[in-house]
Amino acid sequence: MTVPIPQDQNLTAPLAAPLVEPTAPIEREASVTPIAAPADAAASQVAMGLTGRALPTFRAPAPLTSHGPAYIIAMTNQKGGVGKTTTTINLGAALAEAGRKVLMVDMDPQGSLSIGLGVNPDDLGGNKTVYDMLMDSTAVPASDVVMKTSIDGLDLLPANIQLSAAELRLAGEVAREYALDRAFESVRPHYDYILIDCQPSLGLLTVNALTAADGVVIPMECEFFALRGVEMLRETITKVKERLNNRLTIDGVLPTMVDARTLHTRETIQAVLDAFGDSVFHTTISRTVKFPETTKAGVSIIEQAPTSSGAQNYRNLAWELVARLESQGSVAK
Ligand SMILES: Nc1ncnc2c1ncn2[C@@H]1O[C@H](COP(=O)(O)OP(=O)(O)OP(=O)(O)O)[C@@H](O)[C@H]1O
Ligand SMILES: [Mg+2]
Repeated sequence: MTVPIPQDQNLTAPLAAPLVEPTAPIEREASVTPIAAPADAAASQVAMGLTGRALPTFRAPAPLTSHGPAYIIAMTNQKGGVGKTTTTINLGAALAEAGRKVLMVDMDPQGSLSIGLGVNPDDLGGNKTVYDMLMDSTAVPASDVVMKTSIDGLDLLPANIQLSAAELRLAGEVAREYALDRAFESVRPHYDYILIDCQPSLGLLTVNALTAADGVVIPMECEFFALRGVEMLRETITKVKERLNNRLTIDGVLPTMVDARTLHTRETIQAVLDAFGDSVFHTTISRTVKFPETTKAGVSIIEQAPTSSGAQNYRNLAWELVARLESQGSVAK
């Protein structure tokens, strides 16, 4: 399946359609909330997306007949609080809902991913963590660290504050950037996607994630300072690609916390499009209080509020991502 990604980046269309929680049942062909199309586009029946481009329709991906090897995605942005963890959890849940087997990896000593999935990182009942695995993946293989989550097909490698010692401990090791990559060897055949939730820094843990990954998804909060530091992120991705992992690519930039009613949001999205072009996803994630609520409850929005606009946003992201990757042949299926 190929998904045309048109070039039109007209952002001048009026924002007439406010984001509202849908009351209708989930439509399998639903897409992100479109804004009103300008007259010429309306004439040719082209719906315009929030990113100002003609909006393709993404469909629920076809079921798989076999699983693995995994395509590995690092959720990265050194800016804090932009939606990395929220995206990891909900993209993972939406991919699992689409029948993909997903492993989520907590690479943040804050343990937010683990907490967001209802796991108390300070009381793992003897379960090993990402730290143990990074220190010696022969003694502690990833399969010894994997925990099941409440969602079928969605597993977790948990982490806690102990992981903050890993940067220091790894610093003196040979091939220190490859510790995570080595650890994935044993689990990669069993999953379709591995999603790594990175901490807000470009230190050794994040470099390990980029070295192990096939692609990067960059969540970007739609606010004035969104693009600050992006050049440094891009330089890091380029260096890792040149020196450590030549298969690394940017899978997409994801506008998060979008308030479609404001001019500020449209201007920010335009700036993100100017910087990243068509690697910006058509899907955007709206700002809604449901996300902090689900984080607190330790569940995904897909489980907690499956028909909400937030759940539909992440479902659409999963469908768009699968369309991009599986049609490009990036994912062997
Ligand atoms: N679309 C959204 N609308 C409203 N709130 C959101 C949205 N996405 C995330 N949040 C909230 O914003 C806060 C930060 O989100 P999150 O933890 O996912 O960011 P992060 O990039 O992982 O942060 P950190 O850099 O600290 O790891 C959380 O309280 C989360 O619930
Ligand atoms: Mg986080």
